[in-house]
Amino acid sequence: MDVIEAIVQRRSIKRFTDTPVEAAVLDRVLSAGLWAQNHHMTQPWRFTVLGAKTHQALAAANAEVALASMLNVDESARDKVRAGAEAKMLSKPVIVVVSNVLKGSELDRREDFAATCCAIQNIQLAAWAEGLGMQWSSNPMTRHERTYTLLGLSPNTEEIVAFLYFGYPAEVPPAQPRKALSEVMHRLP
Ligand SMILES: Cc1cc2nc3c(=O)[nH]c(=O)nc-3n(C[C@H](O)[C@H](O)[C@H](O)COP(=O)(O)O)c2cc1C
Repeated sequence: MDVIEAIVQRRSIKRFTDTPVEAAVLDRVLSAGLWAQNHHMTQPWRFTVLGAKTHQALAAANAEVALASMLNVDESARDKVRAGAEAKMLSKPVIVVVSNVLKGSELDRREDFAATCCAIQNIQLAAWAEGLGMQWSSNPMTRHERTYTLLGLSPNTEEIVAFLYFGYPAEVPPAQPRKALSEVMHRLP
C-alpha cells in the first residue's frame, strides 16, 4: 500500500470481528514502531501485549472504576454499568499498552513522549496496510494507578501513553472532515 494512501485511508476502528489476531501479525505491526524517529536514539517506547488473564483483569478494573464514580444509583443501574464497562473492554480482541520511559530533563521527556507518539502512528499505519484495525484509546484507565499496579509499572519511571485496541474491522467509520491546508498553513516572505 502506498504511504499516502495508508495515511489518508487509515481510520480509527472501534468495532472488531471475532477473527483472532495472530501473534506474528502483531509482532510485524509493532516492529514498525521501532523505526520511529527519536532524538538521541533513546527508543523510549515500551509495548505491553495483554494476555487473556490481564485483559480480563483490566476489564474488571475498568468496570469497578466506572462504578466508583456513580453515586445514588440503584443496584440494577450499577449492574448495567459494570457489565457494559467490562464488555466494552473485552470486545477489543487485543490490547497493547504503550508506555514511555521517563528519563532525563523535562525537555528529554517531552521529546521522548513525542517519539512514542510517532511510534504509535507508525504502528497504526502498518496495521492498516495489513488490513488490521486499531484505535488509540486514552481511556481514564490509562492514567489510573490500578493499571500501573496491574502491569507492574511505576509511574515514576514509565508513563502510560495509550491503550491500543487491535482487531479486524467489523466497521470502518467514514472519515471525519479535516481543515483545509490553507487554514493551518502560513507562508512567510
Ligand atoms: C492522543 C489520542 C487519544 C485518543 N483517544 C481516543 C479515545 O479515548 N477514544 C476514542 O474513541 N478515540 C480516541 N482517539 C482517536 C480519535 O478519536 C480519532 O483519531 C479521531 O476521531 C479521527 O478519526 P480517524 O482516526 O478515524 O481519522 C485518540 C487519538 C489520539 C491521537
